[in-house]
Amino acid sequence: MKVGIDKIGFYSPKFYIDTSDLAIARNEDPNKYLIGIGQKKQAVIPNTQDVVTMAANASYKIISHDDIDKIDLIIFGTETGVDNSKSAAIYLQNLLSLKSSARAFEIKQACYGATAGLQMAKEYIINHPDKKALVIGADVARYGINTPGEVTQGGGAIAMIVSSNPSIASFDGDSTFHSDDIMDFWRPLYSTEALVDGHYSNNVYVDFFKKTWKEYNDKNQLSIDDYSALVFHLPYVKMGIKGLRAVLSEATEDKQISLKNEFNFSKTYNENIGNLYTGSLYLSLLSLINESSNLKYGDRIGLFSYGSGAQGEFFSMKLEKSFKNAKSINDLNNLIANREKLSVEEYENIFNQWLPIKNIDIDLNWQRDDSTFFLKSIKNSQRIYSSRLEEK
Ligand code: COA
Repeated sequence: MKVGIDKIGFYSPKFYIDTSDLAIARNEDPNKYLIGIGQKKQAVIPNTQDVVTMAANASYKIISHDDIDKIDLIIFGTETGVDNSKSAAIYLQNLLSLKSSARAFEIKQACYGATAGLQMAKEYIINHPDKKALVIGADVARYGINTPGEVTQGGGAIAMIVSSNPSIASFDGDSTFHSDDIMDFWRPLYSTEALVDGHYSNNVYVDFFKKTWKEYNDKNQLSIDDYSALVFHLPYVKMGIKGLRAVLSEATEDKQISLKNEFNFSKTYNENIGNLYTGSLYLSLLSLINESSNLKYGDRIGLFSYGSGAQGEFFSMKLEKSFKNAKSINDLNNLIANREKLSVEEYENIFNQWLPIKNIDIDLNWQRDDSTFFLKSIKNSQRIYSSRLEEK
């Protein structure tokens, strides 16, 4: 029996900045951001969106009545959760009217959480093939105004439905993992912005990739020729390029060209949205399958997941017959094309309005946010969510 990803939904808010504008405002050469970092545009997240609403907006696009009937596992991967105790999955379950006879919980390990969720969902569906699981990767990537990490900000949510006989891709082979106690990126409890040793993080990422890649291929008796594409956790595009370069020499010249081409398809969405933390690898997978015209049923895709601190995992999936989905392609094209461009000053204002880590009662300007689900207010330390479906 095949088990894998049946549907993928994506949401990111409607505001963005051009990284060339950001470069000029920060006295940098735009080519540093466009080529050196590899990012063109960056999503800007208003305070009416958080990981819960973004996950609801992403899930709402893909969930059918049959899914609602069968989902009894909801796993929420995030490193920018909204509560130190209650999981974002419980809020999400209620917003989407999912069944209460379900397991719903949150997982944290930096950008790795959604992969942990996906692998747990896989095990669950193997044992319960008539059920489905909803796996989320949702985050807001914040480093701070005028910091080196600023150009690698962004945010959004990926929602994946895991099932038996999936439409998009099925799991293939046993994952390989590597973890170690490393201070390359972290966010202390008092802070809404991450702390990062970016250059160190690059090195650890490539090192973890090389280890898990080699071990995976040895364990499953595969070589680089067995992969039609490699997709990477992409906090910014250059990081994935460094990963790919680390193993390209194992391939023939033709294979190198083809893997580089496929990588270019896999970065298209990410270079326009920015960093998603947990959802980043899966936005890259979505970008590859929606944008590439070379892939076919049965092709093997290698996936490298990395969460700072640090956990790495390499696994592979094989494409299923209906992996191309016109609705998803239109949705992503519209989402990226129909956003509102902000000036750097407007972005800074929105950035500074992000809700602080302290007790405040506040009514938010949700009327400016046309998303289906949004955060309306905070009262008595409780988040009050709402949706256009209710506010009509
Ligand atoms: N044209 C083209 N490329 C240029 C350039 C120009 N004018 N100026 C610089 N570059 C290149 C540099 O050569 C470098 O390329 P390389 O990485 O291949 O060596 C790249 O642009 C970045 O330049 P650098 O000087 O290293 O930038 P920086 O010190 O500002 O830091 C990051 C860049 C990525 C380290 C920083 O943005 C960061 O820390 N981001 C967060 C990273 C993160 O989140 N890590 C954890 C997640 S897994």
